[in-house]
Amino acid sequence: MAKRYLTSNQGAPVNDDQNSLSVGERGPILLEDIVFLEKISHFDRERIPERVVHAKGAGAFGFFIPYQSMASLTKANFLQDPGKKTPVFVRFSIAGSSVGGADTVRDIRGFAVKFYTEEGNYDLVGNHIPVFPIRDPIQFPDLFHALKPDPVTNVRGGPVAASRFWDFMSLRPESMNFLTYLFADNGTVKSYRTIQGYGVNTYSWVNLCGEEVYVKYHWEPCAGVEYIDSKTAVQLAGTDPDIASRDLFDTIAAGHTVEFEMRVQIMNIEAECEQPFDPLDPTKIWPENLFPLMSVGRMVLNKNPENFFVEVEQSAFSPAAIVPGIDFSNDRILQGRIFPYGDTQRYRIGVNYLELPTNMPRRSVENMMQDGAMQTLYNQGVVNYLPNTLGGGMPMEAPEKGKPAQKFVSGSVARQEIAGDNYYQARCRYRTMSVLERKHLVSNIVESLSQAYEPIQRRIIEHFLRTDSEFGSRIAQGINLII
Ligand code: HEM
Repeated sequence: MAKRYLTSNQGAPVNDDQNSLSVGERGPILLEDIVFLEKISHFDRERIPERVVHAKGAGAFGFFIPYQSMASLTKANFLQDPGKKTPVFVRFSIAGSSVGGADTVRDIRGFAVKFYTEEGNYDLVGNHIPVFPIRDPIQFPDLFHALKPDPVTNVRGGPVAASRFWDFMSLRPESMNFLTYLFADNGTVKSYRTIQGYGVNTYSWVNLCGEEVYVKYHWEPCAGVEYIDSKTAVQLAGTDPDIASRDLFDTIAAGHTVEFEMRVQIMNIEAECEQPFDPLDPTKIWPENLFPLMSVGRMVLNKNPENFFVEVEQSAFSPAAIVPGIDFSNDRILQGRIFPYGDTQRYRIGVNYLELPTNMPRRSVENMMQDGAMQTLYNQGVVNYLPNTLGGGMPMEAPEKGKPAQKFVSGSVARQEIAGDNYYQARCRYRTMSVLERKHLVSNIVESLSQAYEPIQRRIIEHFLRTDSEFGSRIAQGINLII
C-alpha cells in the first residue's frame, strides 16, 4: 500500500496530531496550536440540523426498469421504453424519531425515491402507510408537534406524551383511517426490505397529447410484506435499535439485491366527482376493486452508500422535483408539500444543496442562478443573465414536450375546511381484518391510550365507536372506561 502522510485541511504536513502544543509537559495549551485548533473547530461543526421530520434514515442506490411503455398515460421519459434503466437513490426513514431513535418503534416509515432521469430528477416522496392523518397542510406543524417529544421534558413516553398524541388525533377525526394502519402491526417494522410504499397523495400523469389522468403510486416489496408485533418491536428497540438500517446495508453488502415493484392506480379526471369518496383526500385509499393495480416496473437496490453523511444525511428529496409527464393534483396536502422541502433543505444543508453528489441531476444544469454559500459550479464567461445576445441567447427556453394539459380553476378565495367522511374506510378496514389483526390493533391502541388523560380517552373512544361499535367497545373495555 502506498504511503500517505498526514496533512492539515490546508494541505500542510502535520507531524503530530495526537499531542497538543503545551508549555512544558504539564502547562497550558498555546493558541498557536493550529493543528489542535483546526481539528477541534472542524469537529465542533460536524453536525448539520437533522431533518425536522423523518430525521433517522438509511439509503441505497440502484435502478428502475419499466416492464412496459406507459406512453399512453404519461410522456415521462423514464417510463417510455420497457427495459430502460434509470438510476435511483432511495431513503427509508422514520417520521417522528430523531436521528438516534430506534428503528422498530411505532411510526410512519418514509419511502423516498429519487429517479435520476434524462429530463432531471423525479422524486417520489412516499410513506409506508397509504393514508395520511390530516387533509390540510396548515395543520402539519401541529401534527408533528403532537407526535414529537413533550416540549417541557423532551420525553416521548408516558401519560403526557400519550395525552398529547390522542388529544390531537381526537380533535382531527379524519385521522381514523390512518390510526387503523399505524396501530396495526403495519406500524412496527424491523426491515425496510419488506415494507410497502405509497405515494399517498394523488398526482397526475400527462401524455404527449395533453391528456391527463390521476395516479396513485404503490411499491410492493418483492421479498413479501412483513411487519412485527408490538412486543418484538419494544424488545428490538432495546437490543438492536438500528436493525432496519443494518439489515438494508448488510443485505446489499452480502451481494443481494433489495427489490420493489412499482404499481399504479389510474383514475380518469372526469371520474373524480363520481366517487363515493374524495379521490384527492389523502386520508382515503382508492379501493383496488374499483381502481385495479397496474404493474409498471421494478426497482432494484444494489449499491450501498460509501459514506452515510455525504450521501444519505445530506440527501434531499422534494415533491417539487417533477419531470414532464408528471404533475400535481389539487390534493391540498400535496399542494402544501411543494414548497417546504426545498425551503428546509436550503436551511438544513445550504442554498447549493442540489450540487451535492446524491442530489445532483445526472444531466447538465443550465440556468443563470449563481453564487451562494459553498458554490463550486459556475457558468463560463461574462453572460450570466437572460435574455442575452452576447451569449447567443443561451440557454434557450426548453421546447414544450407534446401538448400541455389544460387546467381550469375557479372559486372564491376563502379558508375552508375540506368536508369528508371520517369513518367509512376505517370501518371497512376494521371489518375485513382477521381476528388476530383486530386483536393486535385493539391491544396496541389500548397500550398507548390507557396512559392518556380520561377526558381525552372519552373523546377518542367516541370516534372509535363511530368507526365500529365493536371496535370502540373493545378499546373502552381494554382501558377500563365505562361508556
Ligand atoms: C403537509 C404535509 C407535509 C409537509 C408540510 C411535509 C414536510 C416535510 C419536510 C419539511 C420534510 C423534511 C425534508 C428534509 O429536511 O429534507 C419532510 C420529509 C419527508 N416527508 Fe413530508 N411533509 C408532508 C407530508 C408528507 C406526506 C403525505 C408524505 C408521504 C406521502 C411525506 C413523506 C416524507 C418523507 C418520506 C420525508 C423524508 C424524505 C427523506 O428521506 O429525506 N410527507 N416532509
